[in-house]
Amino acid sequence: MRAFVVDHHGPDGLRPAEVPTPRPGPGDVLVDVRAASINPLDRMVRDGEFKRLLPYRTPFVLGHDLAGVVRAVGSDVRGFRVGDEVYARPRDLRIGAFAEQLAVDAADVALKPTSLSFAEAAAVPLVALAAWQALVEVADVRPGQEVLVHAGAGGLGSTVIQVAKHLGAHVTTTAHTRDLEAVRALGADEAVDHTTTNVADLPTRYDVVLDSLGADSLHTSLTLLRPGGLAISVVGPPDPAFATQLGHPLLRPVMALLSRRVRRRARRLGVRYSFFFMRADGARLAQLAALYEDGTLRPVLDRTFDFDQTLEAVAHVEHGRARGKVVVTR
Ligand SMILES: NC(=O)c1ccc[n+]([C@@H]2O[C@H](COP(=O)([O-])OP(=O)(O)OC[C@H]3O[C@@H](n4cnc5c(N)ncnc54)[C@H](OP(=O)(O)O)[C@@H]3O)[C@@H](O)[C@H]2O)c1
Repeated sequence: MRAFVVDHHGPDGLRPAEVPTPRPGPGDVLVDVRAASINPLDRMVRDGEFKRLLPYRTPFVLGHDLAGVVRAVGSDVRGFRVGDEVYARPRDLRIGAFAEQLAVDAADVALKPTSLSFAEAAAVPLVALAAWQALVEVADVRPGQEVLVHAGAGGLGSTVIQVAKHLGAHVTTTAHTRDLEAVRALGADEAVDHTTTNVADLPTRYDVVLDSLGADSLHTSLTLLRPGGLAISVVGPPDPAFATQLGHPLLRPVMALLSRRVRRRARRLGVRYSFFFMRADGARLAQLAALYEDGTLRPVLDRTFDFDQTLEAVAHVEHGRARGKVVVTR
């Protein structure tokens, strides 16, 4: 089958290739991939940025998000049948959505929201799981709380705004001038133009800040929290709890060292810091599907490319100007 394979780590490491068709294990669902979406994580994994934490061995097929049709089910699988339309964020070390087919652990799969096309559904899993897990499971966002979402026009931010509104929060987001209307249409109560406003001048009133921009922004974010507030970074530095999540508790001291500065600064300010890295979760995706079906949440698509143009699609996301999600379809 055709696939896009990382044959060495680095910016030119992804290439089209013919690879063997995957065989589903007893707990797997074999999916005919109709659409896959691109995530910044694809570039990072391609470049080997997480090599020690996520030890992919080249060559491997890239791609973290898919929607498609079940072609076969493993002998232990209950709940899925051949022909079902599904979507998934396959778990780490079993990725490979940039391919005609992928065998996915059935625990990572859910029925696709019926109201969404394959392209729309492929845009959902990673960012929707990330938004839900960060805001509900980590931050426990409550109605009326103040939530600041950085980069609200991006793939992740556009979903976090919607989930935060669904939870009843008052949402502020940062975006480029040209995207202010779009983020308001997603539900943001306040849209801050990051080209004209110094974010550090925002009021110190947030219960939760979700930061996807990196170190400088994170340090500013800490100063915008009210006492006891929580800054969640999805880009690092990793904290000791992440070592536990990965099943590598021996790495806790390393993670503690990496995040020592930000955790110390948070302590001094009387606020909290948490690194967040999303997990595959088919059961949660099934619940989220209901929110897409009833229109509470909607996918935001920037551009759709043909499967053959996967390299161009990855480059488009790498450029960092995506307004919503970028999808490849077959
Ligand atoms: N840890 C996790 O579980 C997890 C999950 C999902 C994503 N992430 C990470 O989160 C980051 C964002 O992911 P994504 O999928 O949203 O990427 P994306 O779609 O490529 O995000 C790009 C968006 O960021 C905006 N942006 C860039 N600089 C900005 C600034 N200073 N202020 C406000 N907006 C700014 C861009 O708008 P402009 O045109 O204004 O630049 C663009 O709309 C990536 O690093 C990704 O790896 C982590």
